[in-house]
Amino acid sequence: MRKAFIIVLAATGLLTAGCGAVGMVKSGDAARGKTLYAEKCGSCHVLKDAGATGTIGPNLDDSFGPAYCHGFKEQTVRDVVRGQIAYPEMPMPADILRGSDADDVSVYVASVAGSNYDCATYAGAS
Ligand code: HEC
Repeated sequence: MRKAFIIVLAATGLLTAGCGAVGMVKSGDAARGKTLYAEKCGSCHVLKDAGATGTIGPNLDDSFGPAYCHGFKEQTVRDVVRGQIAYPEMPMPADILRGSDADDVSVYVASVAGSNYDCATYAGAS
């Protein structure tokens, strides 16, 4: 969990430094994003709200729950997810989704990831 949080921080640093060419996610349709998540992401990433159980990639509740406990804004998480879709590392395939499809999934993931986290008992939040 701690490692995932550090990765999130690193990714955010990248975006704020202006290296993330995809820029900010301005808007997206979360309901559509949930359907796309089930089709394109759930096979690799656990996400409680989506009922997804894939374990090839990190559990996204664990990736972003601690970040939210530390006060990250939803917009930041959207942009991190969007950047990850555009510039993943192996074995996550690049550009599984593009354009508004990728925005929809990013908005959806940011709206639900880590919502099962109880920040009061989360040891990393101080
Ligand atoms: C074939 C399996 C696979 C699919 C499909 C996949 N991912 Fe990934 N994903 C991974 C792996 C493995 C990693 C860890 C390596 C990396 O950071 O790229 C990862 C990393 C991530 C991270 C960073 C998490 C962290 O803790 O740093 C996010 C966010 C993410 N994926 C979102 C998505 C979204 C959204 C989709 C659907 C559009 C998706 N992934 C589809 C395998 C996958």
